[in-house]
Amino acid sequence: MQLKNVLYRGLPFAVATIAAAKTINHAYEFNPVVVSGGGYITGIIAHPTEKDLLYARTDIGGTYRWSSSEDKWIPLNDFISAADENLLGTESIALDPNDPDRLYLAQGRYLSSENAALFVSSDRGETFDIYPAPFKMGANELGRNNGERLAVNPFKADELWMGTRDAGLLVSEDGARSWRNVTGFPNANANGIGIFWVIFDPRSEGTVYVGVGVPGGIYVTKDSGETWKAVPGQPLEWDEDVLVFPEEAQPQSTGPQPMKGVLAENGALYVTYADAPGPYGATYGGVYVYNTTSTEWTNITPNADNSSPPPFDNQTFPAGGFCGLSVDSKDPETLVVVSLDRDPGPALDSMYLSRDGGRSWKDVSQISTPPRSGGYWGHPIEEAAFKDGTAVPWLSFNWGPQWGGYGAPSPVRGLTKFGWWMTAVLIDPSDSDHVLHGTGATIWATDNLSSVDKNQAPDWYIQAQGIEESVALAMASPNGGNSHLLTGLGDINGYRYGDLDVPQPMFELPVFSNLNALDWAGQKPETIIRAGPCGHNYTDGCGLAAYSADGGSSWTKFATCIPGIETGTPNPGVIAIDASGKNIVWSSAMTTYWPTLQAITTRTNESGPYVTTDLGQTWVSPTGLNVQTPNISADRVQPRTFYSFSDGTWYLSRDGGLSYRAFEAKEIGLPAYSGAMPIANFNRAGEVWLALGDLGIYHTRNFGKRWSKITERGVAARHLTIGAGARRSSGPALFIVGKVASRGPLSEDGVYRSDDNGKTWVRVNDEKHQYGGMAMIQGDPRVYGRVYLGTGGRGIIYADIKTKRED
Ligand SMILES: *[C@@H]1O[C@H](CO)[C@@H](O)[C@H](O)[C@H]1NC(C)=O
Ligand SMILES: *[C@@H]1O[C@H](CO)[C@@H](O)[C@H](O)[C@H]1NC(C)=O
Ligand SMILES: *[C@@H]1O[C@H](CO)[C@@H](O)[C@H](O)[C@H]1NC(C)=O
Ligand SMILES: *[C@@H]1O[C@H](CO)[C@@H](O)[C@H](O)[C@H]1NC(C)=O
Ligand SMILES: *[C@@H]1O[C@H](CO)[C@@H](O)[C@H](O)[C@H]1NC(C)=O
Ligand SMILES: *[C@@H]1O[C@H](CO)[C@@H](O)[C@H](O)[C@H]1NC(C)=O
Ligand SMILES: *[C@@H]1O[C@H](CO)[C@@H](O)[C@H](O)[C@H]1NC(C)=O
Repeated sequence: MQLKNVLYRGLPFAVATIAAAKTINHAYEFNPVVVSGGGYITGIIAHPTEKDLLYARTDIGGTYRWSSSEDKWIPLNDFISAADENLLGTESIALDPNDPDRLYLAQGRYLSSENAALFVSSDRGETFDIYPAPFKMGANELGRNNGERLAVNPFKADELWMGTRDAGLLVSEDGARSWRNVTGFPNANANGIGIFWVIFDPRSEGTVYVGVGVPGGIYVTKDSGETWKAVPGQPLEWDEDVLVFPEEAQPQSTGPQPMKGVLAENGALYVTYADAPGPYGATYGGVYVYNTTSTEWTNITPNADNSSPPPFDNQTFPAGGFCGLSVDSKDPETLVVVSLDRDPGPALDSMYLSRDGGRSWKDVSQISTPPRSGGYWGHPIEEAAFKDGTAVPWLSFNWGPQWGGYGAPSPVRGLTKFGWWMTAVLIDPSDSDHVLHGTGATIWATDNLSSVDKNQAPDWYIQAQGIEESVALAMASPNGGNSHLLTGLGDINGYRYGDLDVPQPMFELPVFSNLNALDWAGQKPETIIRAGPCGHNYTDGCGLAAYSADGGSSWTKFATCIPGIETGTPNPGVIAIDASGKNIVWSSAMTTYWPTLQAITTRTNESGPYVTTDLGQTWVSPTGLNVQTPNISADRVQPRTFYSFSDGTWYLSRDGGLSYRAFEAKEIGLPAYSGAMPIANFNRAGEVWLALGDLGIYHTRNFGKRWSKITERGVAARHLTIGAGARRSSGPALFIVGKVASRGPLSEDGVYRSDDNGKTWVRVNDEKHQYGGMAMIQGDPRVYGRVYLGTGGRGIIYADIKTKRED
């Protein structure tokens, strides 16, 4: 009965919302807040015959198609909803050599999720049919650098083979709708890494080579999978010449494991090897070629005897494995290979080019590096620019301290690293001089590979425009100053944007590996603070939080960190600054925005909140607030005023965070609810909103002494932000992630805007713009209608009201 009642009342409400809407239903446009790259490119794949038809896959941001007419990569998977977040990662791409319009994507980030699918397109990824996969995928797991696992049979249009991680070798005969097991496959190797690649021999129907990620793991069938044998003569042991053993460090596998394979037109099967699946942790490897006619194997690993210029230094530990591999489709004896995890240097990872099937090599990275780099291969920072000259300055990483073992910053000032995790490499089939290589952060390209033949450095540029695969961790949009947006991202620190459409320099030192928290002083918008893990022991202050009085040009480290927090803390929590810019509160209790992205959600020792008025020389523990909470923020207008809604209690401080007065929820009009981040108005003291999930939005105009619910039944607000109002006289626009009705279109999960303080709502995003969900949103106090959408793998998007342009 009760349910019926709800439904009955829900329907007229939804209709009334649309009909009486005071909130104007504008059309929106969606554009990236540009970083360009920002994460690991796991594969670059070209159609063998169609000019300029390239795809790039990423571990947590899906797949992109290159558009040469627009000179950028086009994201193909933005329709993925929050519920399907796990699908926003591409395990493998397969193209049909006979039909350039066909595209198959194997989607799924983690083996811990059952949600995996095949996306099948007959229009190059404009639209997809989606079929749930009866096996798990791991686009962000170990071994994601290898492949391709998925392949189309060149003799049978609808037949695909998939080398899975833990379900063996599978075949689909109906274009990825259904799958059957190749039960005769001798090494299903159900270890979570499984089969790395499947290669059809286009000259011989029924012949397929399959590489499993174990020593001796290459198998061949000549009868379409009925019978199999291990390819004879595979390297099963380590070549003594490549091994160096400092402190008894042995290779991690008994023999080389096949990472990638390419079957060239002349019947040569080139294979790269390493002792670990990658992308990190490989210590040894090699490159071999198998003559499929004579069944002879040859070791063609680049080394001191066969490469030029000669190695900068004798190989030290780790010598590195090999993974990246591409063969020129116009010349089967021209190929590039790239070493993996030869880090720390010297020398770092190198790309090698051979024109004679691997008998001799040119060290492309060394030839590309200016003299006197000491073996740390890199591009001059000026080369970190798009072909049109637009700089991508953040790739300097500010020459900060290394992080994460395979650190991004170049140790040589003036250079950006040639790359690391360069496992995706491609000699463009339609232009043999055009080579692209992915890194842990971007895509580099050159149009002059052949310069290397003359020992001249090719010209390199960044070819990552359109790719945005970072993870949003913090956003702030000050009410004044030069920047519309300050960002904190996973892995790559943070940025400030005057112009949202061009890549910006990274925030200066201290460089954070993640930037978890940001705030600005409401009456001094150029005063900003940020916090994040840095992994480096600074001797002149706390490396985990910094302060800027000039909008982020220059930064001062806090003198000390709050108690309980030190180098190595993976997430420093939340930091808030009062309207005057003098009182700063730091609480190490963290908000988990992206529970599925394990690497950046490691819990930390929770302590605080503490407050400082002297930039961290002293930290004071307040009275009246004993809860360790991330839900703490400052009033934007009235100095010395902080708010917290934690463990069902409202806390108000009016002495700069030294003491708090506690209000029990029910006495001030708030429902029983765990807690939420207080969202304070940017131009009115004492006005605050709280998003209380299914209970809707609560609002106060008197510092939280009295609250009222402003939303009607059916409004569920997971995240809330405010931005400039529709008119000068009106209050701010409200934005939520959630739903605004219990039935009808407005009951769908999405981003909504209200221009009348929560009474009526319109949808901001649509089904095509879901990005796997948004765990944070940020309004802009200066631009009506604009909302920044923080995603977990597609960077930050800004949604603006569409304006009719005259052009
Ligand atoms: C396929 O067969 C192999 C062994 O033949 C087995 O290990 C694997 O689990 C099977 N996969 C499925 C999905 O049943
Ligand atoms: C493979 O071996 C055959 C037979 O010995 C030989 O004719 C052919 O040239 C070899 N192919 C390559 C790519 O070396
Ligand atoms: C490499 O090692 C050899 C023999 O140990 C030594 O003679 C040579 O100088 C070394 N080369 C470099 C560049 O260090
Ligand atoms: C590389 O190719 C570009 C475009 O064709 C050309 O402008 C440039 O001069 C070339 N650079 C070198 C070093 O050959
Ligand atoms: C920082 O110092 C601590 C304690 O001295 C030490 O254990 C840790 O390894 C150091 N971390 C780095 C990144 O140097
Ligand atoms: C966690 O923080 C508390 C309070 O500052 C401190 O006493 C404790 O030693 C810390 N624990 C760790 C593991 O750092
Ligand atoms: C903080 O707010 C979140 C909702 O955003 C809530 O789940 C959590 O329980 C709150 N924490 C505290 C300590 O109140």
